[in-house]
Amino acid sequence: MSAARDRVDDLLAAAREAMERGSYAPYSNFNVGAAVLAEGEVFAGANIENASYPLSVCAERHAVAAAVNAGKRAIDAVVVVTRAEEPTPPCGGCRQVLNEFGPKMLVMIEAAGGKRAEWTLPEILPHAFGPEDLAGSPEGSRSERERASGSPPAKG
Ligand code: THU
Repeated sequence: MSAARDRVDDLLAAAREAMERGSYAPYSNFNVGAAVLAEGEVFAGANIENASYPLSVCAERHAVAAAVNAGKRAIDAVVVVTRAEEPTPPCGGCRQVLNEFGPKMLVMIEAAGGKRAEWTLPEILPHAFGPEDLAGSPEGSRSERERASGSPPAKG
């Protein structure tokens, strides 16, 4: 966690740049940028909406996707920036996605005027459902390593 703290300025800069450059939010007018620290590297994303509103994708999920697409599987922190007056916490869906790759991660939000809020993910997603909860199912008999590598389930 302290390594994540040392990178907060980098994460904020990347999240702000992602919001300025990439946020496409003509329907909500709520621009968001996010950056994650994954295995020492910073990956960013912005919210992207479309005319079928529910199919819009949050900034946090785009940042996670950028990290995972680059081969990273462990996230230590997420930083989110908006133009709102008060810090706004990540939506429930994003909390679940973040939990998959960093169940103990630092979550920091910065509002327009610089006001910040921070939590750990377990504080804002208590009793999370995660990979270990699949242990009672046939799928759950696969090892952690197999699942983390994204290998397909064995047939049977
Ligand atoms: N949004 C995010 O990108 N992250 C959040 O944590 C909350 C909401 C986006 C989704 C949508 O484009 C807009 O903000 C309004 O909900």
